[in-house]
Amino acid sequence: MNKKIFLSRRIPDAGIRLLKDSGFDLDMHQQDEPLPPEALREKVRDVQGLICLLDDTIDAALINAAPKLEVISNMAVGYNNIDTGYAKSRGIAVCNTPGILTQSTAELAWALLFAISRRIPEADTFMREGRFSGWKPLLMLGGDISGQTLGVIGTGRIGTAFALMSKGFNMRVLYSGKPNPELDKELHAENVDLETLIRESDFISLHIPLRKENHHLIGKKEFTLMKPTAYLINTARGPVVDEAELVRVLKAGRIAGAALDVYENEPALTPGLTELDNVVLAPHIGSATVPVRNRLAVMAVDNCLKILRGESCENRIV
Ligand code: GLV
Repeated sequence: MNKKIFLSRRIPDAGIRLLKDSGFDLDMHQQDEPLPPEALREKVRDVQGLICLLDDTIDAALINAAPKLEVISNMAVGYNNIDTGYAKSRGIAVCNTPGILTQSTAELAWALLFAISRRIPEADTFMREGRFSGWKPLLMLGGDISGQTLGVIGTGRIGTAFALMSKGFNMRVLYSGKPNPELDKELHAENVDLETLIRESDFISLHIPLRKENHHLIGKKEFTLMKPTAYLINTARGPVVDEAELVRVLKAGRIAGAALDVYENEPALTPGLTELDNVVLAPHIGSATVPVRNRLAVMAVDNCLKILRGESCENRIV
């Protein structure tokens, strides 16, 4: 009998074409919204392949509902939505889509850095509301970027690309975690402990995966350590930041601002966040360029097909 694949969301056509040409049986949830967990469990009952997204919860209950499952292919680089340990114990392969979105996510972190420090969304609203009555010495003052200290937490692929993009801005670059010879060589970056990074940076950008040890890595204590003129940028995963605490410090003006692409209870926002001027909010669009999303879709499908065909797959996590 032919193997069957379930695709949990509408994805770019390039991925759909590859799936349709694969020869496997297909079932697709061709919508932009995720299926509720019970509906997803129903859909995977007789499939060997599941192609899912970062907001599909692939936990033990889902895996148990799919007795024939051979592969879970996540169209995302992060895979904190999947119980990889449980999948492994059941002999199910898990794949992700690394590499493709490195530059686009690093670029978005820079876009957010500029947007918050130079108050671009606020300035745009100001113009559209017809409030511009002429140049004023004290209008929309923001923070400097060139020559400032950039703190990069997490220097994997995306964090490294983000740090390297600072080259034109003559910044002092600090990073925490494992030594990164490329950053040391290219930027004379300094590998420092987290507390030093938080204390000394003018911009702190998060590029770490969500793991237990990173939950609320930036919380009450860390906000207290930050300079009152510093900005926080999060394009990694929401729960790395204690969002309720962030709202409190932003409200109190304890830090200069924050720019977020990811949220602790995504897609819900912590109450108070949207009422603040010193925050810029984006809807998890780090990888959202046409070419990148096309390539992500193709890679996620390709990973699934390779495993179902018994081929090796370089993007296999477990
Ligand atoms: C996006 O957040 C991803 O993990 O691919």
